[in-house]
Amino acid sequence: MGVSRGGFSSRMGFILAAAGSAVGLGNIWGFPTQTASNGGAAFVLVYLVLAFCLAYPAFMAELLIGRYGQANAVSSMQKMSRTLWQKRFAFIVGFGGIICAALILSFYGIIAGWMMSYAIEPVMRLANMDNAGKWLIEQSLSRNLLFTSLFMLLTIFIIRRGVEQGIEKWSKRLMPMLIGLLILLIIYVFTLEGSREGFKAYLNPDISRVFEPDLLISALGQAFFSLSLGTSVMVIYGSYISKKENLVSLGAQVTLIDVSIAFLAGLLIIPAMYVAQAQGVAIFADDGSLISGPNLVFDVLPTLFNGMGLVGLFVAFGFFVLMSIAALTSSISMLEGPVSFVVERHNVKREKATVLIGCFILLLSAIIILNFELLFGLVISASTVYGQPLIAMLCCVFVGWIWQRSEVLAEIKEGNNEVENSLFWKIWPWYTKFVCPSAIGLVFWHSL
Ligand code: PHE
Repeated sequence: MGVSRGGFSSRMGFILAAAGSAVGLGNIWGFPTQTASNGGAAFVLVYLVLAFCLAYPAFMAELLIGRYGQANAVSSMQKMSRTLWQKRFAFIVGFGGIICAALILSFYGIIAGWMMSYAIEPVMRLANMDNAGKWLIEQSLSRNLLFTSLFMLLTIFIIRRGVEQGIEKWSKRLMPMLIGLLILLIIYVFTLEGSREGFKAYLNPDISRVFEPDLLISALGQAFFSLSLGTSVMVIYGSYISKKENLVSLGAQVTLIDVSIAFLAGLLIIPAMYVAQAQGVAIFADDGSLISGPNLVFDVLPTLFNGMGLVGLFVAFGFFVLMSIAALTSSISMLEGPVSFVVERHNVKREKATVLIGCFILLLSAIIILNFELLFGLVISASTVYGQPLIAMLCCVFVGWIWQRSEVLAEIKEGNNEVENSLFWKIWPWYTKFVCPSAIGLVFWHSL
């Protein structure tokens, strides 16, 4: 591990940091919202299949590129390229991912800001400051600008200090606490009226919907969004892993953690949605479509917490604080992509690069907030539904068609000497070469 670049100090450090990047709003805001708007259990089923069959292999490709290249996405892929056009292709894929990360962060910061304001609201209510509390949970320009800025400043603050002190430290206690709280809340929801119907909607798929183009493309985007793929983030994180580690199992563990947390979040929010509906909150329109869209989680969960009485204030506080931290461990990974690129390629100091890029992305967020109706959904689908799968697909093409097989094997063997005889090595190389690019391409084509 290069002294000047920094790296994860331990195996656990990497798992926590990569899972910290993967687990975030995508799991607890994105996945349940998508599930609710795409036919419940059918979406869950397709998501699970795509996460393991397409996102995991692509995730492995990105980690390997990073660990081999020991640098940002562009430099890493250029290191594998032999001809001029391959180097150009490497630049397009690597830089495309970096732009994608910046775009994602620009809308991510807004939603993370909502999480923060929802965390403070119960405190205001405890202090009998009801007006301030109301302002915190109502959509307004001033609230969105303030909290998005606060969130971005926190992200900048952590990334300025570099990978060891920043990323690893923040990820350590979050995951167990988040999982614990989710499980307790699921048990609580189970006891409430209306939840049975919700569990059914979540767990009992209507197979006839599985091949709907909209459902497929949303599930694909969601799977890649949730694993932070196609954004250069996992390439960079891969570059911080020691050569002694077994990448195949590290990747599998992170995928499993990420998918399980999304699944748990859905298991909480979809039934809670039906509970809220039983209590008179309007969730579905007359034609069966979802009313709240991106606000779903912010409508459903507070209804649930309010039903708990005084305890609910503490639960709400705890939940939204944990969510804000989960969002932070993801946003720092998004900022790390562009920052490491500028630091390594243009010789700019880390502090300066972080502040400049962070402020630029904050400006993008402000533009989205000021043109919310027009831009919010557009930026989300451009970056997550189209950008991420496309760039991740190109990474697979890179590993499958440009990187020499013997070099791939040598890299994957580091920390995993037996890999040559494993099932993984029998399947993954041709799978990334042929199946991943064609399957992703097929979903795109199908959606058109
Ligand atoms: N995977 C993160 C989440 O689920 C979001 C993310 C996307 C992080 C892209 C980094 C890069 O919230």
